[in-house]
Amino acid sequence: MYGRWVETVAAGEALSRVVRSRGFLDRLARLSGRRWVPDPKGKGTYLYYRRPAQSFRLHRDGDHCEFVVLTCLLSRAGRGGDLILYPGRNRESLAAIRRSPRRGAVRIRLKAGESLLMDGRAIAHRVSRLGPGRVRVSAARCFRAR
Ligand SMILES: [Fe+2]
Repeated sequence: MYGRWVETVAAGEALSRVVRSRGFLDRLARLSGRRWVPDPKGKGTYLYYRRPAQSFRLHRDGDHCEFVVLTCLLSRAGRGGDLILYPGRNRESLAAIRRSPRRGAVRIRLKAGESLLMDGRAIAHRVSRLGPGRVRVSAARCFRAR
C-alpha cells in the first residue's frame, strides 16, 4: 500500500508506558524545544527489516504524525537498511526527489538504543534496501504538539 516491504506489528502497553512517562516526555521537550504528547490515535509500530531487499520507499508521514520518534532496538551489520533523509528538500515533491535521489540525501544508521526525532511530515525519508545478513528492528511512535 505504501510501496514498502517491511514486517510491522502494532505496539502495545510496553511502548505506551515508556512514551507516557514524565521522564521521556521531559527529555523529548528538552531535545526538541517544545512539549509533545503521544498521538492518542495510535500506539506505535514495531518495524522488522530482516530479509534481503526489504525496504520502505520514499514518503512523508501523514498529518496524524506531527513528530516521530524512531528507536533502533536491534541492528545487525550488513548493507542497506539505513534511514535516508532529505532534510534540505522539504519544499520538493517526492517525485522530484526520486528523480535525483543522491542530492541532499543524509544516511543514518542508528545503533541499538539510539533514537531519531524528526518532523516526518516535512522531511521526506525512506529505508534503503537490505543486503544479506542485515537486520534492523525499530519502534516508531507519533506525537502531537501539546
Ligand atoms: Fe515515515
